[in-house]
Amino acid sequence: MHDIIQQLEKKRAHARLGGGEKRIAAQHAKGKLTARERIEVLLDEGSFEEWDMFVEHGCNDFGMADQKIPGDGVVTGHGYINGRLVFVFSQDFTVFGGSLSEAHAEKICKILETATKVGAPVIGINDSGGARIQEGVASLGGYAEVFQRNVTASGVVPQISVIMGPCAGGAVYSPALTDFIFMVKDSSYMFVTGPDVVKTVTHEEVTAEDLGGAVTHTARSGVADLAFENDVEALLMVRRFFNYLPSNNRERAPLREAGDPPNRDDYSLDTLIPDNPNKPYDMKELVEKVVDDGEFFELQPDYAKNIIVGFARMDGQVVGIVANQPLVLAGCLDIKSSIKAARFVRFCDAFSIPVITFVDVPGFMPGTAQEYGGIIKHGAKLLYAYAECTVPKITVITRKAYGGAYDVMASKHLRGDVNFAWPHAEIAVMGAKGAVEIIFREEKSDPAKLAAREAEYKQKFANPFIASSRGYVDDVIMPHGTRRRVCRALTLLRDKKLDEPWRKHGNIPL
Ligand code: HXC
Repeated sequence: MHDIIQQLEKKRAHARLGGGEKRIAAQHAKGKLTARERIEVLLDEGSFEEWDMFVEHGCNDFGMADQKIPGDGVVTGHGYINGRLVFVFSQDFTVFGGSLSEAHAEKICKILETATKVGAPVIGINDSGGARIQEGVASLGGYAEVFQRNVTASGVVPQISVIMGPCAGGAVYSPALTDFIFMVKDSSYMFVTGPDVVKTVTHEEVTAEDLGGAVTHTARSGVADLAFENDVEALLMVRRFFNYLPSNNRERAPLREAGDPPNRDDYSLDTLIPDNPNKPYDMKELVEKVVDDGEFFELQPDYAKNIIVGFARMDGQVVGIVANQPLVLAGCLDIKSSIKAARFVRFCDAFSIPVITFVDVPGFMPGTAQEYGGIIKHGAKLLYAYAECTVPKITVITRKAYGGAYDVMASKHLRGDVNFAWPHAEIAVMGAKGAVEIIFREEKSDPAKLAAREAEYKQKFANPFIASSRGYVDDVIMPHGTRRRVCRALTLLRDKKLDEPWRKHGNIPL
């Protein structure tokens, strides 16, 4: 018996070494942690239980029969984050460059399937040279098996991808199918084809970092949500982020005892909006003043900055925040911001997280770039997302709500549950200047007359009272009481139920 136990310990120790000391040292020299070290940082101390530690590949080609390393390049299992169950897989670059063999794929599939069955989130740590070249099509099949399980799990359990090394070719599509992607600056990259192929095909010269590094994907492409300085920072932020997520689509995100009173007034909000309606203010300041303890976990802060999305808590309950940012492009909706917000709203809806929308939007962005880029279709994504969303929707119009953008931003007409407006709100088809130039075109040559018309239009329409007289806003509220009113609305809507007609699925404009 003693021998068997010793043997097991020996086998475990061997498996834990992965590709060996030399390759571990090379991994550390790149400033990267190993697959197991990453899991240790990510999970509560001592909570990790590993599965399939002794799985080996079944490839006999290209000398692979003699090269078997237990675990086959991915560490899988489950553990806890702040006491809540989570499934993880962490690719081990020290073993065949973390490349994906058939066996490696099967291990990931087992994690995804079990997590979906028991209703626990999945965190995948990616650090891989892609398809195991020696295995050929078996590896491609393995990828597709993983993709299928990512899709089956989508909307059932939250899935987070952390990119901590190479992730190239078709391999990028597993993270792309998950809900959130976090990256590490300078040591991770994602691209469909690498710099060499790019040079051959398009004659562009670009570094791996520029083509698919963390900054590229968080600021230019919008593929990733957040970029961090190093592995440890990224993993600790995943732990914090995890607290905002429910375990699955039948549970709610964990409540946290709020130290911040739900009825706290903030009088500085009464003077946040500048007298001049063309002057911007920082919407983020507003959000931070309204939510619990000023804590706002923003996603995609460097991409489509004209819209802000992220998680916060109100009276201890997790909420999704969507807010136009007047500091950038005057808060206009454009292609990127519509897609960014639509995806976020759909995540919240899938996982029972109420959506709070702060509106200050002068309209959709005009121009050929937007029209040729398909703003009609992309703007419709956000419209669709809000319209299909059945979780509690609370909307606060802080200033402008013009045109189609008024409709889109969780208006009453899209089943907004509780819609407030601040006294400064301007809810109209368009701004006064543009409006009078159209309806009084014949008076264009007379600036004085036109100015009088503009003043009349402003007086008549640039306020929240017409909308409120029709019940399109439920109340015009004082800015300082926003937190109190939103918290009350959340309590009111806690058991909201809304049944939809049967359908297989809708057809969101993609
Ligand atoms: C098998 C691989 C491998 C792979 C790396 N290795 N990639 N083994 N299959 N795909 C092995 C190397 O042989 C090496 O083994 C070890 O991993 C570390 O690799 P290095 O090249 O020494 O590391 P580094 O210099 O850091 O370069 C990393 C790399 C490079 C940029 C990822 O290894 C590379 O370009 N690999 C090939 C990438 C690739 O073309 N993959 C297929 C993409 S197509 P030793 O024994 O020396 O330690 C694809 C399709 C997916 O993925 C489709 C899904 C639908």
